[in-house]
Amino acid sequence: MERSEIENLIDAAIEATHNSYSPYSNYSVGAALLTIDGTLFTGCNIENATYGATNCAERTAIFKAISEGEKQFKAIAVNGIGSQGEADYAFPCGICRQVLAEFCEPDFIVICAKNKKDYKRYTIGELLPETFSL
Ligand code: THU
Repeated sequence: MERSEIENLIDAAIEATHNSYSPYSNYSVGAALLTIDGTLFTGCNIENATYGATNCAERTAIFKAISEGEKQFKAIAVNGIGSQGEADYAFPCGICRQVLAEFCEPDFIVICAKNKKDYKRYTIGELLPETFSL
């Protein structure tokens, strides 16, 4: 991926972070998912009073995309903002890694970003090796 493409994806993730509904953890997460043909789907974490019904930002984004008929994905950027307003890398949780692995090739790119200049880049194959599948 070109640097400008990565930076655009991070920008979209940070914008999505501001839509987070997280009154219980006060930890906001945003994600921006890029399809192979260049379409963007964003998502944020959506918490619930039962806690267990909470949906992570990454799953919000990929469920939006799958439900719109998308099937091929290139990359996702994820951003976190803590309770004091501090930017964080927000590494995808185990469930989100498994969901991403369901729909993405092992070389799918995962960018965990504090901001456009400060980010870590992985593949889903690195984050979830030996993926369970049927
Ligand atoms: N969260 C995400 O949205 N993505 C992750 O991969 C890690 C955790 C959310 C869930 C919850 O709303 C908050 O972060 C604190 O766990």
